Amino acid sequence: MSTSNTSNILTSDNLPSPKGHPLTGHFTDFRANNKHRVMEKWVDEVGDLFRISLIGKKFIVSARSSLNKEVLRLRPNKFRRFSNIDQVMSEMGICGVFNAEGETWKNHRKLASEALNLDNVKSYYPTIAEITERLIRKFNKYAALNESFDVQKQMMRYTVDITTEIAFGYPMNTLEKGDNTIQKHLNKIFPMINSRITAPIPIWRLIKSKKDRDFDHSLNETRKLIIQFIKEGRQRLADTPSLKQNPKNFLEALLVQQEQKDKFTDYEIFGNIFTMLLAGEDTTSNTISWCIYYLSQNPHLIEKVRAEANVIYEESNIPMTYKEVSQLKVAEAVALEALRINPVTPNLYMTANEDVEIEGFRFRKGEQS
Ligand code: HEM
Repeated sequence: MSTSNTSNILTSDNLPSPKGHPLTGHFTDFRANNKHRVMEKWVDEVGDLFRISLIGKKFIVSARSSLNKEVLRLRPNKFRRFSNIDQVMSEMGICGVFNAEGETWKNHRKLASEALNLDNVKSYYPTIAEITERLIRKFNKYAALNESFDVQKQMMRYTVDITTEIAFGYPMNTLEKGDNTIQKHLNKIFPMINSRITAPIPIWRLIKSKKDRDFDHSLNETRKLIIQFIKEGRQRLADTPSLKQNPKNFLEALLVQQEQKDKFTDYEIFGNIFTMLLAGEDTTSNTISWCIYYLSQNPHLIEKVRAEANVIYEESNIPMTYKEVSQLKVAEAVALEALRINPVTPNLYMTANEDVEIEGFRFRKGEQS
């Protein structure tokens, strides 16, 4: 929503700022693991639009959902993602939908959104159900042995198995095979990307710490796995050419586009597969883990979730169809509430490509938010 009335337009100069450190500004608080709580505290202190400084670098922070929606709507023309995202991901050898901009992003986005549209998600459901049965069998085994286990680790296996099977047609089955190598590597990659994106000095380009070397190792191992996914995907298309008319997953769709329209380079295919793996696994496993945590703290909610499940899928252990899943309103509310209290993506970083006015606020060209 643009406005041409300049008299009452706010800019970052007029914004309040929460209390920070005289030298480092808000940097230490911002690097905290509970960043979303820190930001909530700042909103309570100064309101939902303010500025912070991270060792001299200024950022506008908006917790105003209408303004944030408009910023996202104006991407990629008037806003772009923070350029550090692309720098950090490109140096990792990743060039995919998450770090592309402009027309390239539109091409990648089209394919990614087709892969994740509702019809496709419905068609993936039998695979999700099968992997969920495996998870339940595993939980029942622990219960029978009266053994405790780390819920979040099991959820990482669960979501890696689902992501790799539905997005790349690759049955990893880490839940039953007991191999957690990929989870260990992904556990090092995601946090490192996040910390490098907001690092004031790219120190890893000058000196590599042990953490950086571990990260490089994990990156290399994950790279090898993705190259294997792609090789097997190409082989499936060669063995069964009819798949080219009806690709069964995101990887096959990318490979067909490459073959027919020369639209994606090998580098971009690799980048998008990596992006899907990273985007699909951590977000979902942590959200489900938080749901389980909050349910365990609120037995009355467990009763409500159970009562609803007993009505919708009386005969089976899990919902057998997508339609049954979509009827689970209490379970959905639990998931949304867990996401609200502990968002797995608490903030998005943007830069204005030009001066843009939204709801009486002017983002100046180059300003970061
Ligand atoms: C709890 C689950 C999830 C949450 C909270 C979440 C959240 C987000 C957010 C906030 C963004 C950035 C949006 C933007 O900048 O415009 C994003 C992007 C993305 N997510 Fe997710 N996500 C989740 C699960 C998934 C899953 C399961 C997949 C795929 C298997 C996925 C794939 C992607 C992709 C490909 C992008 C980049 C989209 C683009 O640039 O156009 N996400 N997600």
